[in-house]
Amino acid sequence: MSTPTNNKRGFWATRMGFILAASGSAIGLGNVWKFPYVTGQNGGGAFVLLYLVCIFAIGLPIMLAEFTLGRRTNLNPVGAFAAIKPGSPWVGIGFMGVSAGFLILSFYAVVGGWTVAYVVKSVTHSVLDFSSPEQAGQFFGQFISHTWEVLIYHAIFMALCVAIVIKGVHGGIERACDIMMPTLFVILLVLMARSLTLPGAMEGVKFYLYPDFSKIQPQTVLIALGQAFFSLSLGMGAMLTYGSYLSPKENLTAATVYVVLFDTLIALLMGMVIFPAVFSMGLAPTEGPSLVFSVLPTVFSSMPMGTLVSIIFFILLTIAALTSAISLLEVVVAYFIDQRGWDRKRAVLTMAGVIYLLGVPSALSFGVLGDVKFMGMTFFDTVDNIASNYLLPLGGMLTAVFVGWIWGTRAAKEEIEKHETRFHWADQWAFLIRFIAPVAVAGVFLARFF
Ligand code: TRP
Repeated sequence: MSTPTNNKRGFWATRMGFILAASGSAIGLGNVWKFPYVTGQNGGGAFVLLYLVCIFAIGLPIMLAEFTLGRRTNLNPVGAFAAIKPGSPWVGIGFMGVSAGFLILSFYAVVGGWTVAYVVKSVTHSVLDFSSPEQAGQFFGQFISHTWEVLIYHAIFMALCVAIVIKGVHGGIERACDIMMPTLFVILLVLMARSLTLPGAMEGVKFYLYPDFSKIQPQTVLIALGQAFFSLSLGMGAMLTYGSYLSPKENLTAATVYVVLFDTLIALLMGMVIFPAVFSMGLAPTEGPSLVFSVLPTVFSSMPMGTLVSIIFFILLTIAALTSAISLLEVVVAYFIDQRGWDRKRAVLTMAGVIYLLGVPSALSFGVLGDVKFMGMTFFDTVDNIASNYLLPLGGMLTAVFVGWIWGTRAAKEEIEKHETRFHWADQWAFLIRFIAPVAVAGVFLARFF
């Protein structure tokens, strides 16, 4: 198969542009909001260790596989699998990916809306001056149960996504990712310093870093794996789609390593911001989705220039969430553009509208729909659970099987070496993709039945 030269789709302008865009996709609410609360709910240090194993042994090789598939085919996930194995059921992975994009963005945009709201509320000073996390948590709980307010911020966040994605890959997406990361990194360092100097902070550090393996259950491993996939934006073709806008000049292995390291660094740093503060304030680390929103405003309230720090933090978090959300929307949009022949504008507006509507019950899960439960979970948690803990690992596993056994690691290696003179780790990578990733994911799935 020759590489299609479909220039209408657009390409990244620079090498750094691609790395930043892929990091922008990876780094988001998954690192700043989700990682701390799932770590808190799943026992701390031991979970962090499991998470790191999942990131490096399973996530990293799969990310490289996705980039390679994307660059090879220059297509969206559905098109990519179909191009390599025409007429085979493998295209199903692509459809699963596009559906997962729908589902994830539907609830992601809700949380994105919360961050926008907290920018506004920091400016108006209403999320500051909390003397205790209980007070901050109560304020947050009231806010997210407020139907109209939540739906309006949810819509604002979605509209921001639309505005970026409509401009296409390098006008919109690439430029949006360029400044955010270094700034986010610096502010997290400042917050970590504040957190670590709170009284009793070391208890939190201990919880976070000292592994207590008695807290690990089969379910914990699945959650660690799901979180690894979620944080790295894997298993649904988002990285594949970003790879499809690459020119063959790119060094894929280096890009993969950068993106994985950046993403992991931000997640780990965020844990060091949150847990010392949680323990210092005598809060339970198991609080769940509201953890970050009740802890951080309390930290800001106790800081010099807290208002300013709070405004900057929530602006950056909104940008981080946006650069992730656009990668989810882009998968869905690329499918309708490539496979259905829609133009970009129509694809973006229609799909963003549909995804917004799907997100409404998630947005109301903390308020009027709070009592509507599916197997004990709210609508929000149900969608998150289906997408993050089932579709992503399954999609990632099938991608690994596809690249490892169907397309073949030799063909993939050839694609990787198109620019790089030599892919030194090709054998190790092939082993991880062919054996470790599929077996580990399958094992984790099956383990829950015992
Ligand atoms: N990785 C992002 C985060 O950590 C979320 C995200 C963006 C995502 N694109 C994705 C998750 C694709 C899964 C699949 O916030």
